[in-house]
Parts: sequence; structure tokens; C-alpha cells
Amino acid sequence: MTTRLDDIGACVFDAYGTLFDVHSATARCRARLGDKADRLSETWRRKQLEYTWLRTLMGRFEDFWRVTGEALDYALASFEIDDPAVRSELMQLYLSLDAYRDVAPTLERLKAAKQKLAILSNGTMSMLVAATKSAGLGGVFDEIVSVEPLGLYKPHPNVYQSAVDRLGVPANRICFVSANGWDVAGGATFGFRAVWLNRTRQPREPLPGAVAAELAGLDGLPALVGA
Ligand code: 2OP
Repeated sequence: MTTRLDDIGACVFDAYGTLFDVHSATARCRARLGDKADRLSETWRRKQLEYTWLRTLMGRFEDFWRVTGEALDYALASFEIDDPAVRSELMQLYLSLDAYRDVAPTLERLKAAKQKLAILSNGTMSMLVAATKSAGLGGVFDEIVSVEPLGLYKPHPNVYQSAVDRLGVPANRICFVSANGWDVAGGATFGFRAVWLNRTRQPREPLPGAVAAELAGLDGLPALVGA
């Protein structure tokens, strides 16, 4: 039984892995990638995240498009795939990832209940605009907040603060939803009411920050915030 989150002034969503299925790019290239597709995708995602953390620690920010490409280069090399056409196709597909099926109906319901909706993501603004448009979510969000102007990646607290500043809603009235356990921990330690969208029943991350609620699907969110 999950306790309802009262007095929520905005629902803020992580993008990649939460709204958009990062593995849908390689899935669409399965015919060319064969049995390497899933492992390639896992490596691509893991390296993409590692590079964001490492670049933030090193003070060497490059935008998420470049980091995503460099992570793909590593993943392709590790599976001995040397094909510029595959690289180019996978990068283009990253601009039109599938949204999870529960995303559009959940956002519609929250919007109908007059909830303020936003994205807070590592993605560049052009990546996020492309992904939302391609998924038919073009006019849904009140704000799309990218880390790009900050030059820092999640889970740096300044990233979460940028959503507070943009929305004009205090942290403790923001319901922050992410499928990435480490991002939930970052949002929770910052002061958000952080909801872990645990689609694949992963164990809890032993990281600081109290998870306000855990959902198996996004469709549980409206009831959680009273929408
Ligand atoms: C995002 O910021 C972490 O990929 C995740 O969208």
C-alpha cells in the first residue's frame, strides 16, 4: 500500500529510461546487429551514464549528444562492429526512441487534472524536442529542462535546482519520477518527493535519499498524486 503524495505542484520526469525506451534504437536494428543487439544496447547505456558522471567529476562537460556518440563508439568497438552506417543509424534512432506505452495516457490524465508537467534530463534540448515530438508528446510538457546550460550532469544537485528555478515550485512540492535508481537518489537527497518507476523489479539502490514511492508502471502515478 503506497501513501498518497499530497500537495504536489508539479510532476517532473526523467527522460531516458523513464519516458523513452533507450533500448528501442538497437531493437529496430536487430536484423543487422543479430544476437549482439541487446548486449550492445546495455553497454551503450552503461557507458553513456558512466561518461556523464566522469565528465562531471573531471569538470570536462561535453553535451549529451556527443557523450551518447562516444559511448556508442566504445560499445561498437567492444563488440567488434566497425560499420559507420550502423553508428549513424543508431544515433539517428536515438532521436525517435519509443515512448513506453503507459506514458501518453498517464500524461494526458495528469494534464486533465491540471498538474504542471516537465522533463528534467541530461539530454540536449534538441534531442529532447526531437524525442517528444516523435513520440507525439509535443505539446504536453509545460517545461523541458535540459542540463545543457549548466554544464553538469545528474545527480549534481544544481541540476535538480534548475527544475525548481524554471517551474517556480519548491522542491518539496515536486514529484520527481525516474526509472533510474541513482537519479531517484539524487532527486530525493536534493529534496524532491522522488518516485522510483521500477518497471523491471530491480533491487533498491543502497544510496542516500528516501524514496517517496515505488511504482511498477507509470499508470500508477495519477492516483499517487491525487489526479
Ligand atoms: C536522463 O537524464 C539520466 O538518461 C537520464 O534523461
